[in-house]
Parts: sequence; C-alpha cells; structure tokens
Amino acid sequence: MSTAQTVSSAHFESLHKKLADRTARIGVIGLGYVGLPLVLLFSEQKFRVTGFDIDKTKVDTLAQGGSYIVRIPETEIQAAQAAGFTATTDYSRIAEMDAVLIAVPTPLNDHHEPDLSFIVATAEAIAPHLRAGQLIVLESTTYPGTTEELLVPILEKNPRGLKAARGENNGNSTFFVAFSPEREDPGNDTVARADIPKVAGGFNPAATELCCKLYGAIFHRTVPVSAPAVAEMTKLLENIYRCVNIALVNELKMLCLRMGINIWEVIQAASTKPFGFHPFYPGPGIGGHCIPLDPFYLSWKAKEYDFHTRFIELAGEINLSMPYHVVAATMEALNRRRKSLNGSKVLVLGVAYKKDIDDLRESPALTIIELLQKEGAQVSYNDPFFEYVGHGRKYKLEMQNTPLENLQRFDAVIIVTDHSSYDYKWIVQHSQLVIDTRNATKGIVSEKVVRC
Ligand SMILES: NC(=O)c1ccc[n+]([C@@H]2O[C@H](COP(=O)([O-])OP(=O)(O)OC[C@H]3O[C@@H](n4cnc5c(N)ncnc54)[C@H](O)[C@@H]3O)[C@@H](O)[C@H]2O)c1
Repeated sequence: MSTAQTVSSAHFESLHKKLADRTARIGVIGLGYVGLPLVLLFSEQKFRVTGFDIDKTKVDTLAQGGSYIVRIPETEIQAAQAAGFTATTDYSRIAEMDAVLIAVPTPLNDHHEPDLSFIVATAEAIAPHLRAGQLIVLESTTYPGTTEELLVPILEKNPRGLKAARGENNGNSTFFVAFSPEREDPGNDTVARADIPKVAGGFNPAATELCCKLYGAIFHRTVPVSAPAVAEMTKLLENIYRCVNIALVNELKMLCLRMGINIWEVIQAASTKPFGFHPFYPGPGIGGHCIPLDPFYLSWKAKEYDFHTRFIELAGEINLSMPYHVVAATMEALNRRRKSLNGSKVLVLGVAYKKDIDDLRESPALTIIELLQKEGAQVSYNDPFFEYVGHGRKYKLEMQNTPLENLQRFDAVIIVTDHSSYDYKWIVQHSQLVIDTRNATKGIVSEKVVRC
C-alpha cells in the first residue's frame, strides 16, 4: 500500500506496486541525448523498456545493438537489450506501457518563439493508444503551463474518453500526468547521474507520487513539487540563472580585456570565497539545446502576462554578441601582424558546443565559422568528434575535418572548444597565432597567444 491513502485508487495502487516490484513496462519517447540514457538507467534497474522514435535510422541502429551517441558505448545498448529493451516507430505499442516518458525536442522557431510541434505530434500519437491508469511524464524543457494547457487537452481527446486524474479523482477512467525536467549536464562526470535529484510535479497528488516512485528507481532523491508548472519553471530558473551569469562574466571579460586584467585569474581568486559566490566562465558564446533556447520559452510566455523579462533579453544580447567579439579579436590580432582577415587561413579548433561532447547544436563555433567566411577568411576546422559538419537549421557549412598537423600554414588558430584531447602546448608551439576563447592555454607563456 502506498502512503498516499487519500489519493488511493485501484489504478494508483496497481501502478505503484508494479513500479515497486519492477514489473511496470516503461516507454521512452524520443531516443536522443535525454531519452536514450533514461532507457539505459531503467534497463539497468531491470525494468522492461520500449523506446519510441520517429527516426527509423536510430531505431534500426538500436535494433542492431548499435549506438549513435559517442558517450554511450554499444555494450550498454546490448546490455539493455538483454534486459528486454526494444526500440520501435510503432506508437500502437504505447498501449502496452505502464509509464511513458516524453523526451522530444523543444526548439525555437525562426522568430525565436517556442516550437512545440514535437510535443503536440507526440501527444497526438499517444492519445489513440492511451489506457486508464497509465502515467505520462513530460521531460522536455518548456514554458510553465505546457503540461496543463497543451499536453493534457490533447491526451484527453482520446477515443476512450479517459481524463487526466485531477484533485482526488483517480477513478477508473483516468490516467496520470506529470512534468519532470531533465537535468543532465553532458560531459560532466563529476556528479553521477543517479545523484542528480529529480524534480517531479504531478497534475494531482497521485500523479506526483507515482512520478516520484518511478524516478526513485533510478535517482537517489526525488523532489516532489505541487504542480507541473512549478517543475516547468524550476527547470527554466536553473537555465536562466546560468545564462544570466554567463552573460555577466562575458561582459566583465570584455571590460577586463580593455583594462589589461586577466578575467580567469579574477574568477579563480573570487572562487576562494567560501560562500555567496559561484564561478561561471566566459567563452565564445553559448551553445547546446538548453541555455541559448530555454530562456526564450519564458520570455515568450511572460508576454501573455504583459511582463517583460529584461534580464533574459540583456543576457541573450550579450551572449549572442560573443562570436562577433571573437571574430573582431581575430581581426585585430592579424592586423597587429600586418595581415587582414580577408584571405587569411584560419583553423577553428573545436566545433562542439562544449568540451568533450559530440553535440553541435547551437554551437557558437558555427556562427564564428560563418562570420569568418563572410569576412573572406579561408576557414578550416578540427574536432575529434566530427569528421564532417554539414548543415542544420541555421547553418550550411559542408566542411570536412582538417587533421591537426602542419599548423604553421594557418595564419591564425582559434580555440573555440577546449577538448581535453588537445595538446595546447604543442598547438601553441606549432602555430603562428593562437586566439584562445577558453583559457585553454593557461600557464603557457607565448607572444603568439591572444586571450579573448
Ligand atoms: N541534451 C541535453 O543535455 C538536455 C538537457 C536537459 C533537457 N533537455 C531537453 O530534453 C528534450 C530532448 O532533448 P534531446 O537533447 O534529447 O533531443 P534530441 O534531438 O537528442 O532527441 C530527441 C529525439 O526525439 C525524436 N522525436 C522527435 N519527434 C518525435 C515524435 N513525435 N515521436 C517520437 N520521437 C520523436 C527525435 O527523432 C530524436 O531522436 C528537449 O526538450 C531538451 O530541451 C536536453
């Protein structure tokens, strides 16, 4: 029996028990950077997991025991398969699931507005197969109100007339809904995944409790909150906090450059304060699926309430200007060597949006390359994670990885992403000029290095 006697119902008790004894069938929709690791975590805990994706190539790769995410080895996929994991494009199999997690993309459209088409398509695909007593959890980052205003109404248009469990109504014709944000920090190995507390906000208390029970199987701590909107806002607060603080150090870096002060040394010194300070680091601009996009989900929603989110706008403005700063700094450094950027050979080191990961989304390197090309530079790139960079929603590069050799032939080498595998001493030694946007050359004293 669960502790939530007041919200008890046959469906609730049944799912609670299945989650406790690991017989619950778990469906994960969207097998990307968020969804696939979730599949593996639940499989490790002996749940039978089914992955759903519209990308047939991904489904086929997984069916063959393969992986398409660098940090996930094939052996882990195969271990999950041995525990019963299968992947499919067939949504009718949703009916077999007890709990369904949704981890589909939430990008911005061309006008910097939330593009919820993936969530809408997913909800519409689930609805015909929805069963009473199922738990549906949205993980995709989005503005507060999405679960209640968008997801639930679509799910409730199901052929069986099932309704989301509300208040104390967990009756026979209900299903459970919750929002629980993903908090993964790709490439960060300092915190084990299971040690990242999982926030869960259900549409009613029973949904919250079931959601916590579900994630309690793979995370050491769950944090129940009173509503999906609280959980949705929690995720945005976390990312806006980072976005604003990164913008602050980026702005201070520009000032420090003018004043001849090393911002990195300043941050290191400030970090010795044992309270009230958390270090953030400047860089060539922000990237990834979260920090550049998520704040705009909130500023868009805020307009509905006649509210202008000024911190978000200002931070966005500063962070977006950083690739332009890098290009201007490269131009100035070449100028000091009596060279023009126009016609210069430039090597961009690292195109992933941050170190040691194989993710290119919203990477500032892409903008930097395009800006350099616009100025007439002959641009090459090197990145151990990308043999080829094609085109995406906002860029069209079609470039091949350049081997890290004969660096002398480049007029400038720009360190955009400080992958750990790079030997920075060797890079400085063999280059004519190094523009360092990440403090990767810390401790290397050379006139060739320009920190920017
Ligand atoms: N990547 C991260 O580190 C991270 C961290 C925190 C939160 N998030 C959030 O998690 C969500 C997912 O991000 P991601 O990085 O895993 O994205 P992703 O692009 O890596 O993966 C999304 C997957 O969903 C699939 N998909 C799209 N529409 C679908 C549909 N209708 N049905 C089934 N599958 C569908 C895509 O084919 C893709 O495989 C986003 O909202 C993102 O903001 C991501």
